[in-house]
Amino acid sequence: DQNNFQAIISHCKEYGFVFPSSEIYEGLSAVYDYGQYGAQLKKNIRDYWWKSMTQLNDNIVGIDAAIFMHPTTWKASGHVDSFSDPMIDNKDSKKRYRVDHLIEAYADTLPEAEGAAVLAQMDDLLKENDFAGLKALIEEKKIACAVSGTVNWTEIRNFNLMFSTQLGSVTDEASEIYLRPETAQGIFVNFLNVQKTGRMKIPFGIAQTGKAFRNEIVARQFIFRMREFEQMEMQFFVRPGTQQEWFQHWKEARMKWHQSLGFDTAKYRFKPHIKLAHYADAAEDIEFEFPIGFKEVEGIHSRTDFDLKQHQEYSRKKQQYFDPEINQNYIPYVIETSIGLDRMFLLTVCAAYEEQDLSTADKQDSRVVMKIPAMLAPIKLAVFPLTKKDGLPELAQELIDECKPYFHTYYEEKDSIGKRYRRQDAIGTPFCITVDHQTKEDHTVTIRYRDSMEQERIHMSAVRDLVMKATMF
Ligand code: GAP
Repeated sequence: DQNNFQAIISHCKEYGFVFPSSEIYEGLSAVYDYGQYGAQLKKNIRDYWWKSMTQLNDNIVGIDAAIFMHPTTWKASGHVDSFSDPMIDNKDSKKRYRVDHLIEAYADTLPEAEGAAVLAQMDDLLKENDFAGLKALIEEKKIACAVSGTVNWTEIRNFNLMFSTQLGSVTDEASEIYLRPETAQGIFVNFLNVQKTGRMKIPFGIAQTGKAFRNEIVARQFIFRMREFEQMEMQFFVRPGTQQEWFQHWKEARMKWHQSLGFDTAKYRFKPHIKLAHYADAAEDIEFEFPIGFKEVEGIHSRTDFDLKQHQEYSRKKQQYFDPEINQNYIPYVIETSIGLDRMFLLTVCAAYEEQDLSTADKQDSRVVMKIPAMLAPIKLAVFPLTKKDGLPELAQELIDECKPYFHTYYEEKDSIGKRYRRQDAIGTPFCITVDHQTKEDHTVTIRYRDSMEQERIHMSAVRDLVMKATMF
């Protein structure tokens, strides 16, 4: 399926979804730009998540915290000391690799059972932080550097994944700040601000979307693993002792959210974490079957009271909540749902992308169609006048003007209708309308459906509501 993945990457570029960053300068590794349709699709996914969290839950509110935070935040959260990955350098190529990625890439080249055995062995060693054992595994299997083919490795060491920069012009250590590696901490440090000003009662949640940055050493697989990416996170604050129950609740709620998009349910699964992060007492991923295999899209983590407790200790400000129902003060426990927006975007395009053979006995034909859920599609409706004359463009424009305050429309008068349909299929537009000479007589138009390619005649005045109904969320 690697071919299919390459086809999807090319398609994303060719149709204005995703471009390599600063491409005219040969790009920047693991950094990407979203084009005209990509930016809109990404926004629609973000909005869909935001609505499901904040609007549909009375007890979840949204915030927008800054990317820069006081540097002590990251001491307290544990990121300065433990947000690192074991890395190994190839002495010949001077390239650095994340140990797990290196072994994973090797396992991918083996027959399935053998690969799984190597991964299981790796997981055990990672869990124990057994660097000598990992190095021995790499040597025993003669894992070669993909670039030079050599097996000349250094010792394994930990490298921190946070980007740092200087605040202002002072260069002393105190002015060193980090680009946030997760959005979650902006929520933790605002926990009491929101609780008090919003008069929130536990259990309640705070949601946020925004950029996060990680200096991923091996960044591969298109937008799957980036150095600058966006997260959509929600911290749900609960009474201590109830975290198991809420963990289950959010696992199920998040899986439901994914399945509400209508993609093949067999492509999703839960995967418990093998190695828990420094803050978690339970954690599971929602994985999706990408063309490159089952991969993590979202994590649901039971973070205990770790973060708030740490912030209380470092800031010396109480992070407690008074629970009137049980007449007690406590530091709440937290269940977190954390999904990468870019990864959700990748999921959407991978699940939506289809190459179809439409050949008949007497004609060869094919199309690429993106079956993006209508509510997420960047363009909802395209309108085509059959010809460029006889007042048809004006009629088409009239329909566009009626619809565009409500959803994204696209007007096109060049090329044959068939070609115009294909271009809209390629960007996932669920509805196309053709205005022809009959429209002038009776105000009916042809509506053509993306997935079935079926066409029917409907009254022009029905178009706006039909599209709104099918694309609203
Ligand atoms: N606050 C918890 C947290 O950040 P994580 O598992 O490290 O947990 C959550 O990240 C999600 O963020 C992942 O499931 C993934 O979708 C996304 N993500 C993490 N690193 C990423 C990267 N380098 N590029 C794109 N998405 C990433």
